[in-house]
Amino acid sequence: MNIVMAASECAPYFKTGGLADVVAALPKALSKKDHTLTVILPKHRFLPSDISSQLQLEGTFDVWVKWRKQYCGLFSYETESVKFYFLDNEYYFNRAQLYGEVDDAERYTFFTHAFFQALEHLNLVPDIIHCHDWQTGLIPAYIKAGVYKEPVKTVFTIHNLKYQGIFPSTIFHELLHLDAVHIGGLELNGAINFMKGALVHADWVTTVSPTYAHEILNPYFGEGLEKFLLERQTSVSGIVNGIDEELYNPSSDLNVSVPYSRNYAGKKENKRIMQQELDLAISTDIPMFALISRLVEDKGLPLLTQILDELLRTESIQVVIMGTGDPHFEEAFQTISNNHPNSCRFINVFHEGLAHRLYAASDFFLMPSRFEPCGLSQLIALRYESIPIVRETGGLKDTINPYNEFTGEGNGFSFTNYNAYDFLHIIRYAIHLYYQPAHWNRILKNVYKTKLNWEHSATKYEEIYYTLTKNIHEEEL
Ligand code: GLC
Repeated sequence: MNIVMAASECAPYFKTGGLADVVAALPKALSKKDHTLTVILPKHRFLPSDISSQLQLEGTFDVWVKWRKQYCGLFSYETESVKFYFLDNEYYFNRAQLYGEVDDAERYTFFTHAFFQALEHLNLVPDIIHCHDWQTGLIPAYIKAGVYKEPVKTVFTIHNLKYQGIFPSTIFHELLHLDAVHIGGLELNGAINFMKGALVHADWVTTVSPTYAHEILNPYFGEGLEKFLLERQTSVSGIVNGIDEELYNPSSDLNVSVPYSRNYAGKKENKRIMQQELDLAISTDIPMFALISRLVEDKGLPLLTQILDELLRTESIQVVIMGTGDPHFEEAFQTISNNHPNSCRFINVFHEGLAHRLYAASDFFLMPSRFEPCGLSQLIALRYESIPIVRETGGLKDTINPYNEFTGEGNGFSFTNYNAYDFLHIIRYAIHLYYQPAHWNRILKNVYKTKLNWEHSATKYEEIYYTLTKNIHEEEL
């Protein structure tokens, strides 16, 4: 099949979150199944220079935006398995950030218009157009409005329903080149909502875990869009993300001080080096907890700020927190870290190499999210044999099976209610088992056995593509 993906970010080109990792890894996994994979992205400022120097200019064309024409350069970059195209316009995409600009509506409308022109320019006729998150939400709407004439089917993946791309209703007439009859499928509460556009018009909607797919049907998780998901429930599914096991591999990762695999002594050596690096007390027997995250409320950080001081006062452990975000959390973690110089460190930057070393050095990985569409960090933690302690929501619930000391099953620890003391309790229980070799070795064995790659999930996407294209052929008959 000929599959074209559209997204706003992709690792290693530009990344603000897990979306970039999925857009990098899923096409690669699908191409192994003998499909032709093309990914179309904006050409943001952050393209690494070794990649931008290898881009090929495939052509240029003009794109209508509002009343004027804008330049678009079409660049290509070929990898072993996937062909990437970058849509270039310095005015729209040479910005300090990928999103959060005042003219985001215009920037991603430009992207949508340019996307269709790029297909035409390349003579590329896909069987499936697979779009990711609100930045590409207009694409399915444009296809249903007849802007694109080929009989293509669309899949839209929600990576996080909270971010929807909501703009003043005036953009409908100013920016979107659609007939007025189409406003209903895009409007919500008097505004234009790109995510709604996708949920109403895509032929299939997926999200990144079965539990999240179920959760977003009710108002607590549905972010005001549950109604549109409920209406089309039979074509909404949840497919859990995988990780690229070549990229995240503790036995070959150049960031990791001492490479290891299924060998706890190797991990302990990494812990000792990390303790030196961060100037923490040196002892490889003290359990080390890591949290690596954007510092926002969604990630359940209020639970951690409530209990961290008590935890550090009462238990012999070390906690290392890495990330940037809401100043409120940055200040709280900095204060607690200052008060516990031997046992707590707050690293207020995101540094990819150090993050990998922290996965390698830590015994436990904390992820108390309030909601979590899938979560990749817990999967990376499993890969680096750091035991996840998570809240049972979304993809965390689908990937972490809580350890049961009676059956010996489980690859982590979890708690159900969004409650700081439930979180504290489960951390204490995990520490208790850490000192019992029979249990600890059992948990580690279960972690080693956990399947983390894309193989299974790529097959599920493929099944959806086949179901949809089979319908095209039936419609034709
Ligand atoms: C978003 C979600 C996260 C998910 C990622 C990739 O960042 O918040 O849970 O893992 O997208 O799908």
